[in-house]
Amino acid sequence: MNAAGTYIFASCAFPPLDKDAAETAVITIGPYCKQPYDARSFFNISGMSYGAISKPAVQALSKGAEMAGCWINTGEGGLAPYHLESNADIVFQIGTAKYGVRKSDGSLDDEKLKKVAGHDQVKMFEVKLSQGAKPGKGGILPASKINKDIAEIRGILVNEDSISPNRHPEISNVSELLDFINHVRDITGKPVGFKTVIGSPDWIEDLCEEILKRGVESAPDFITVDGGNGGTGAAPMPLMDNVGLVLKEALPMVSDVLHKYDLRERVRIIASGKLITPSDVAWALCTGADFITSARGFMFALGCIQSLKCNKNTCPTGVATHQKHLQEGLNPEDKAVKVANYAKNIVHEVEIIAHSCGVLEPRELRRKHVRIVQDTGLSIAMDKLYPRPDIKTVMDKDAV
Ligand SMILES: Cc1cc2nc3c(=O)[nH]c(=O)nc-3n(C[C@H](O)[C@H](O)[C@H](O)COP(=O)(O)O)c2cc1C
Repeated sequence: MNAAGTYIFASCAFPPLDKDAAETAVITIGPYCKQPYDARSFFNISGMSYGAISKPAVQALSKGAEMAGCWINTGEGGLAPYHLESNADIVFQIGTAKYGVRKSDGSLDDEKLKKVAGHDQVKMFEVKLSQGAKPGKGGILPASKINKDIAEIRGILVNEDSISPNRHPEISNVSELLDFINHVRDITGKPVGFKTVIGSPDWIEDLCEEILKRGVESAPDFITVDGGNGGTGAAPMPLMDNVGLVLKEALPMVSDVLHKYDLRERVRIIASGKLITPSDVAWALCTGADFITSARGFMFALGCIQSLKCNKNTCPTGVATHQKHLQEGLNPEDKAVKVANYAKNIVHEVEIIAHSCGVLEPRELRRKHVRIVQDTGLSIAMDKLYPRPDIKTVMDKDAV
């Protein structure tokens, strides 16, 4: 417990009685769109594309998500029929190659987008700007992992590496980002946000200023902040760990910028990046996240043993390979139960931490409830380390 960075939650002298503990509140995302999303669980499945992971892995995750009442994010590989086999809530990710919703020239196909939005299960759209494992680089799916099924769903060719652009060609600044988000929201009628890695918070400030100029309706409905040490099926080594801020720095920054511009309630924050244990997840809620998503936590639930062969189509556990004989041990029915148990137990154990801190439910956790051990071995409360900025000074008309 002496290592710098360790979280210590501040237990309360008089915690609520178990009988008074509340259910975690349902949060509405996208209050201004035609079909807002009432999200039930604060712990959800992060984007992992069909292609990076196998058909039985997608089936198990989507069934497990239904059982646990959480959402599953498609990742950038488009919507597979296997996502729809269960009745889980789905977040459709629009990657830079727009797999599943692309025209042959790689631009967005509004008709295909409408079709995806027509599925009741698809609740939100996430525009992927970047992910922690490879900020500034597009997705990579090696040819060895592309079969006919995957090629059809993505709208690409079999037997050719599938490399997505390193940026959405039509999004080169915050204004174009808002244009794109509003376009997708107009077409789909559902909440739209974006996923990014943070290098510096300056551009989030520019984004907030642009939102205030246009009106709060124009804001993204959520921002997914991915830590710079994110996972992937394949990434260039130089970007894998040491590019992009890790979540412990990025999350308070983004949350504070939104707070400063009084957009904290309007724009929900989804946090991801090595949030695998209940204390990691409780820390993120204290720091400012509304939701947490995990990719690798759920891979472990599926049986991943970290053999680091995700890009080779030889994953021995069947999670990240399309070779049938290697998938034999991954029974979707059986693994769905493990996926659901993992999600449900994280929620339950975060509730235990919350009650011990004296609040009725996890979303009432605040920075004052967690202390961070410093290199002296002594801890400092998070609200002293990252005090909230003042809203009023920024809301002054001249400042915006
Ligand atoms: C096998 C695999 C595939 C992934 N595919 C995508 C993807 O298609 N789109 C994306 O935005 N992130 C993708 N990610 C990144 C995760 O969604 C997540 O942002 C990252 O791994 C950090 O979360 P974690 O620490 O819980 O794994 C992938 C991760 C893994 C492990």
